[in-house]
Amino acid sequence: MSKKLTGNQIRQDFIDFFVEHGHTAVPSMSLVPGGDATLLFTNSGMVQFKDVFIGTDTKPYKRAVDSQKCMRVAGKHNDLEDVGRDDTHHTFFEMLGNWSFGDYYKKEAIAWSWQLLTEVWGLPKDKLYATCFKDDKGNVPQDDEAADIWKQQPGFDPEHVLFFGRKENFWQMAEFGPCGPCSEIHIDLGEERDNLRGTDHVCGVNGECTRYLELWNNVFIQYNLFEDGRLEPLPAKHVDTGMGFERIVSVLQGVDSNYKTDLFTGSLEVLRSLTGHTEKEMLADFTPYRVICDHVRSAAFLIADGVVPGNAGRNYVTRMIIRRGARFGTKIGLNEPFLAKVAEAVIAEYGDFIPNSKRIRRPF
Ligand code: SER
Repeated sequence: MSKKLTGNQIRQDFIDFFVEHGHTAVPSMSLVPGGDATLLFTNSGMVQFKDVFIGTDTKPYKRAVDSQKCMRVAGKHNDLEDVGRDDTHHTFFEMLGNWSFGDYYKKEAIAWSWQLLTEVWGLPKDKLYATCFKDDKGNVPQDDEAADIWKQQPGFDPEHVLFFGRKENFWQMAEFGPCGPCSEIHIDLGEERDNLRGTDHVCGVNGECTRYLELWNNVFIQYNLFEDGRLEPLPAKHVDTGMGFERIVSVLQGVDSNYKTDLFTGSLEVLRSLTGHTEKEMLADFTPYRVICDHVRSAAFLIADGVVPGNAGRNYVTRMIIRRGARFGTKIGLNEPFLAKVAEAVIAEYGDFIPNSKRIRRPF
């Protein structure tokens, strides 16, 4: 299907592709969104560009590409309950994004996502689907423009354009602020990846099973949503895309779990050496392993951004995650302190990409 690339190469491929298309590579912002009282943590790539969208800030570039550190443990986007239960959610994750600030719009954004996925990474065209916005409340126009652009992509099956409503295809970072219709790219991973096979369920894009995986969201930011519900056009139109880094790595590495990618190999090995489990035993009771790997990674990145464990707000979340990680350790027989050992593996994996992470030494 595709070349076997490491996670680090995949992140670099994404950045290089958009730099070649005139984007400036920008660093991830901190997990602590300075000056934004609406958010506890940076929860998406657009946080560092919110003021540019609203028109109260400018950048020295019109196109950008980045891999943003995100936490989704509170507020509008909270994935905590899914972590450990499934193979695709995290409290901390990276979001690969390309950005247009009043520059290119749907035509280029869609064409480039198609090229990167199918030409650079060689994903099978007939397995990819695109969803577009159709307002279930009937207030915002249907996004036929995006749907038509999808149908023009070489090798794209026009039947694979699907329309969904506000829940799936309208993106807002918070309860109000810049927002717009979005177009998501999903991949059909094959019947064998349907975890509900044989049951009566919705087996399709945005359905109930794990066969169809959302990979990439292209958001077309064109409105500002006010607290009183008013939706006003922004002074300019923008593109905000977000691809779950861990998910694309799992697809390109051909594994059925984000936790089986090379991003987590080191952490899992440390844990397995502590529990003495064989790989088979580990996979038979994978939930504690997933939770611990996820939570240690989150705690390490939070501490690297200066959020130490404490009693309130962000500090409380850091403490909660650490305690939760330790608690799941007891489920696999780890009753002595072990989290710092796993953190060493996180630092080894991420040290080159995130400079701050190399400063973490024995965070807990
Ligand atoms: N803001 C969108 C998301 O987080 C795309 O980056 O999914």
